[in-house]
Amino acid sequence: MDQTLWYKDAVFYELSVRAFKDSNGDGHGDLRGLTEKLAYLQTLGVDCIWLMPIYPSPLRDDGYDIADYYNIAETFGTLDDFKTLIKEAHNRNIRVITDLVLNHTSDEHPWFKASRSDRNSPYRDYYVWSDTDQKYQDARIIFLDTEPSNWTWDEKTGQYYWHRFYASQPDLNFDNPKVQQEMMDIARFWLDLGIDGFRADAVPYLFEREGTNCENLPETHTYLKKLRAFMDENYPGRILLCEANQWPADVRPYFGDGDEFHMGFHFPIMPRIFMALKKGRADDMIDILNRTPAIPENCQWCIFLRNHDELTLEMVTEDERQWMWAQYAPEPRMKLNLGIRRRLAPLLDNDRRKIDLANSLLFTLPGSPIIYYGDEIGMGDNIELPDRNGVRTPMQWNAESGAGFSQATIQSFYAPIIDDQVYGSSRVNVEFQRKDLLSLWNIIRHMIAVRKRHHAFGRGEIEWVDCQNDRIAAFGRTHEGETILVLHNLSDAKQRVSLKIKGSVKSLTDLLTQKAFPFDNGNFDIGLDPYQYLWLK
Ligand code: NOJ
Repeated sequence: MDQTLWYKDAVFYELSVRAFKDSNGDGHGDLRGLTEKLAYLQTLGVDCIWLMPIYPSPLRDDGYDIADYYNIAETFGTLDDFKTLIKEAHNRNIRVITDLVLNHTSDEHPWFKASRSDRNSPYRDYYVWSDTDQKYQDARIIFLDTEPSNWTWDEKTGQYYWHRFYASQPDLNFDNPKVQQEMMDIARFWLDLGIDGFRADAVPYLFEREGTNCENLPETHTYLKKLRAFMDENYPGRILLCEANQWPADVRPYFGDGDEFHMGFHFPIMPRIFMALKKGRADDMIDILNRTPAIPENCQWCIFLRNHDELTLEMVTEDERQWMWAQYAPEPRMKLNLGIRRRLAPLLDNDRRKIDLANSLLFTLPGSPIIYYGDEIGMGDNIELPDRNGVRTPMQWNAESGAGFSQATIQSFYAPIIDDQVYGSSRVNVEFQRKDLLSLWNIIRHMIAVRKRHHAFGRGEIEWVDCQNDRIAAFGRTHEGETILVLHNLSDAKQRVSLKIKGSVKSLTDLLTQKAFPFDNGNFDIGLDPYQYLWLK
């Protein structure tokens, strides 16, 4: 099999280095700590980790505001630690991708400091300046809860600068060829250190054009294709994963003719998985996948249940958004911008049946799955913390007072450990779950292992199956002569499934339990318990 297509079958894992494991007792996770935990990730079955930003930063957006693209933040360690991490990860067959933040820098980046110091600075044109804040009025504001405008006034030089996120994250000016080259150089630097690719942050917003919404512009695609060509030429097998929170038809161009991104997050399927679980019906999932255009052979979707941001409700209608908030954000402080700042387990009422089912969907729907750190043990969140920090608390390794995350006194932790009655680290932790064969962790590990034995999950077509019951999400995944029939009972009641199976098959076997389901005359007829799922071969 073509090794350069590794990402089509891979299981991804997103983590915050700060939150994962502290090796030196300062209360902040670091690269050495993560290196210690690679064995854990290998046991879970992870093929590739995505590291949230690890660069020097004033942390006004948890590192997505970069002040130096060529270094590691002091709390995380050194470039040598990074090299060791890559080497050790590769020894365990784990790949590593990092965040590449192209669109903006921190306002503390030397380029911006120079840019704002003087209108005649050679760096002035690295950013987007204007005499008026009336330009690009059709561009929406993303951080709605905090930013009144995409323009911020700079007192000293008497102009406004443009930013799609926080005012502390000025947008780079991609119309400047020097900026384009700087970003290429940065990519080269990290690729030379041996990383396996990038999760490219906020790519729709690279260029601005009057009269447009300043998203997904042709100029953006032209630049990204250049970046891809550069990678293909010099670093074959390394990937670009696209963060474009857009409708499938608008994400489609980011795959180009297989010459732009290797992968793209499928944002709209995510809220529809939560809708399906609440409504007990698959229609919304089916609808969005039907509206998802085919992508080139060498491309792949990346699907997720949760990540480090709020559960985004940008890719739903206004009615659906209100409905999702009503269902999943009963308290006002659970809302943030156009989303919900909660983790998977609390969203699903900590009900193992629903959490397992959601994971089963994650591992069987088209695309490569990505797990958000901590969700494999059903960690809780802390909505008392500001912004999205409530879903970025320390990883819960064991029941000790520092949760096995750090030896520091807990007062010096970068964020408090979850310590409530339900989700506290004395109850929810890796050590307990590894010992318990029926734990969420062991179920997820098992799903990953089974998934890896069948390329149909990563590469197969999907075909929805009518099983005479709209409470069931039933679909086939087919690849190279193998078909797997996946059934999910989305409801909290027992359901019957009846379908016709063509050919001479007389029995189906659940790949997860090895249980056989014999049937006669092509009439497959079984009952499913509430939230039960089967992966039938
Ligand atoms: C998307 C990232 O996921 C988010 O965390 C960040 O705040 C914005 N991009 C800006 O970089």
